[in-house]
Formats: sequence, C-alpha cells, structure tokens
Amino acid sequence: MKIIEAKDYQDMSKIAAAYIIKKVNENPKIKLGLATGGTPIGVYSKLISDHQENGTSYQSVTTFNLDEYVGLTGDHVNSYRYYMNVNLFNHIDIQKNNTFIPRGDVDDVLKECDDYEQLIANHKGIDLQLLGIGANGHIGFNEPGTSFDSETHLVQLTPSTRKANARFFTSLEEVPTKAITMGIGTIMKSKEILLLISGEQKREALKRLVTGNVDESFPASILKSHPYVTIIADKAAIADLKVHC
Ligand code: PGA
Repeated sequence: MKIIEAKDYQDMSKIAAAYIIKKVNENPKIKLGLATGGTPIGVYSKLISDHQENGTSYQSVTTFNLDEYVGLTGDHVNSYRYYMNVNLFNHIDIQKNNTFIPRGDVDDVLKECDDYEQLIANHKGIDLQLLGIGANGHIGFNEPGTSFDSETHLVQLTPSTRKANARFFTSLEEVPTKAITMGIGTIMKSKEILLLISGEQKREALKRLVTGNVDESFPASILKSHPYVTIIADKAAIADLKVHC
C-alpha cells in the first residue's frame, strides 16, 4: 500500500480527483467503482468543476457503486442512487445507463445480489475502485466478520453503522436495517483501489490498517494483500502514525 499524506479534507479531495481525472483521460472507457458517504463528496465536487472547466468527458465511462440500502427507491433522498445523481452524475456527461448501483427496492434482493456480481463480471471487472473506510474497518457495507471471499450480498447493518449514518436521515429509526453490498472478494478483484481516509474519527482505523494483522475482524485489512492500493489520508487521520508501507 502506498500512502499519500494530504493537508486536510480539501487537499485529500483535490489529490484524489486529480488521480481519477488522469485515469479517465488515459482510458476514456475506464470502469470506475464508486463510493458514497461523507468522504467522497469533495472528490465528486472537484470532478464536476473539472468537467465544467476542462471538459474531461465521462461519455464512455462505466461506474459500479459499492452498495445500496434495501427498501429505498432510487428517488428516495437517502438512497445511494439519489446521492450519486445529485452529487455527480447529473453534472457530468456520463450516460446514466452506464451507471450501476444495486437496486434496493426489488422484490428478490438475493437475485439482485447475484445479478450485480454477474454484471460486474460481464464488464470484465472494475479498473479503479474508490473506497472509504468505517471506523470499525468496514469497506462498502462489509462489516467485521465478513468473509474475505464474499461476493455481492445482503447485509444486516450493525448498530454502529446505522448510528454513524443517521446524520444523513432525520432520525435513527429511519436508517434502513439492511443493505446490498459488493463483497470483499468483489472489491479485491478491482485492478486498483483508491482509499480515502479523513478526520480524527478515522485515526484508529488507519492505524489498525497500517499496523495490524490481516484479519476478518477488520475488513479493510485485506487491502494489504492487494497489489495496487493507494491511500490518500489527511493529517487529522494520520496524526503521529509513522507511515512505512
Ligand atoms: P463516511 O463513511 O465517508 O461517511 O465516513 C465511510 C464508510 O462508512 O465507508
């Protein structure tokens, strides 16, 4: 794993956006894996500014999102489909039918999981996967204890994850209890991974990722065995950690 130290959240977002833009320019047909949550918002905002100012085109780009809440329709303000449309897709020239996110409002959720895994395979995998990390080490919605071999699957969200995400809802009760997520095995098949870590509340997670063992009790630890991972972390997350990856 390579670690790039950013000054702060804005700087992390700027470095990550520049990284993605370079990859899109090198390969206009790139298949990007995308993430939601608080961390990547700044990156998406910078991709939009760059598209408007420099004309970087996403016409031939395909995207696959990591996860989606079960029970929310794509036009629900808290669905990840809505988040992606509002925070990125509506403002760039990507073709919406090339943007894939698991559908959380289907009758047969297990079939949706299998179909999503197959869809990624049919596209011959993801070139660059953007990731955030939970304070408990989760990646996507793969909570501690998830098999490193897992494919796209249905998860029961932990109380800590629901609590962390309640800030986007009007109350904790409204946060769905289930989600569909790419599995850890799915994520690990990406050719390259870009992990963003920002803020003091992620400090312990970064420390454990860098210094701890590869263990299913800390899902992100598997990234140590991926050949091509870049972490962009801000000073608040890095703190006094001696970075030697
Ligand atoms: P956050 O979530 O970006 O909202 O902190 C990251 C995650 O839970 O993966």
